[in-house]
Amino acid sequence: MLESTNFTYKNNRLYCEDVSVDEIVRQVGTPVYIYSKSYFKDRYTEFTNAFNSINHTIFYAAKSNFNLSVIKTFLDLGSGVDVNSEGELIRALKAGATPDKIILTGVGKTAREIKLGLEHDVLMIKAESEEEVYLINDIASQIHKIARVALRVNPDVDAQTHPYISTGLAENKFGKSVEDALEVYSKEKELSNVRFTGIDMHIGSQIVTIDPFIEAIEKLKEVHKIVTSFDVHIEHFDIGGGIGVKYKDETPFTIKEFANAIIPKLSTCGCDILFEPGRFLTANAGALIVEVLYTKKNSSKNFLVVDGAMTDLLRPSIYGSYHHVVPVTVYSNRENRIYDVVGPVCESGDFLAKNRELQEGRQNDYYAVMSAGAYAMVMASNYNARRRAPEVLVDGSSFKVVRSRETFDYLLYDESV
Ligand code: LLP
Repeated sequence: MLESTNFTYKNNRLYCEDVSVDEIVRQVGTPVYIYSKSYFKDRYTEFTNAFNSINHTIFYAAKSNFNLSVIKTFLDLGSGVDVNSEGELIRALKAGATPDKIILTGVGKTAREIKLGLEHDVLMIKAESEEEVYLINDIASQIHKIARVALRVNPDVDAQTHPYISTGLAENKFGKSVEDALEVYSKEKELSNVRFTGIDMHIGSQIVTIDPFIEAIEKLKEVHKIVTSFDVHIEHFDIGGGIGVKYKDETPFTIKEFANAIIPKLSTCGCDILFEPGRFLTANAGALIVEVLYTKKNSSKNFLVVDGAMTDLLRPSIYGSYHHVVPVTVYSNRENRIYDVVGPVCESGDFLAKNRELQEGRQNDYYAVMSAGAYAMVMASNYNARRRAPEVLVDGSSFKVVRSRETFDYLLYDESV
């Protein structure tokens, strides 16, 4: 049920590594996000080891969890960072990333974001339109830089994932078609301050079969071949992120299977292969701990009204995503019941789980909503003027609050009447 070996029960109490969740809750309160540092490290190591036979670099997709300590954990392992905005760029720098370990993504980068990336000399900017390439060229020329640019190619493949997180179909807003990308690459000589150093794709997220990756890589290889004939020197072949994880009963491929399938396709391209995993590294490192405020029954439904909400974990509300919910303390004398686990927000869409068989809940019990290491805190909001929850990083038998609970002063600091 836990999908993470780093959350386990000892004597019927939930632990993250060697720290009891109760202890964290006692000191920090709820709702609270808890992350296992060793899980981050193990997943990163598993990934990089699988690809050790080819030149590759992992650029951790900070959008999945941009806490500075999380980014720093990956940097310390040798990772780069994939950033999707100036905010994430600033975070990566603050966490200690050197610019040669940063790549800048984004379908709608502003001139300011592009300039910031260029001023910092990031390794590569991934452009998604011809207009963007020309803007990068103009800005680079104004500040006397040569921009290293990759074009994001939209290979028109079906990643077979939730439509909101599928990004590699022709109808999606991302990247340029193969034909259009080739045309843009062919213009390198007209661009005084752009060098095309990369080719890029990202076909979607939470992808659990390898075939869409293979199909897309084949298409990008064709592009690479043609682009090389234009005398454009591609150094980086970036296959993006998107590797799926287990939330419930998915059977995602292992990273070793992924490596075995794609290495033969990539080993001859003469490029450094870049990866941008987010969820794979972070999702099952974390849990959101909530407290039961009230239990109640309406019509035929049992509810656990908890202090965590869609503002803390939006995924169930917007994608209908499943996250395991487990008790922080297991009581042997309690029966199971079917519950909806709902938050305090004024919407019926505010739920964390529906129709779940759970140990009978009572007021002040704690539950852990699992797989909350990716796309949880980063998608949190202040709706209903709720303060965003703190984040705790567990390392062996110790833990640290790596972002504290927001204060009301923080919520109100820039407003006036
Ligand atoms: N690279 C690019 C260009 C991306 O857009 C993304 C994710 C990644 C890498 C990392 O993808 P990952 O390895 O984490 O699948 N909020 C959604 C997920 C949105 C993903 C957006 N892009 C969710 O909660 O499922």
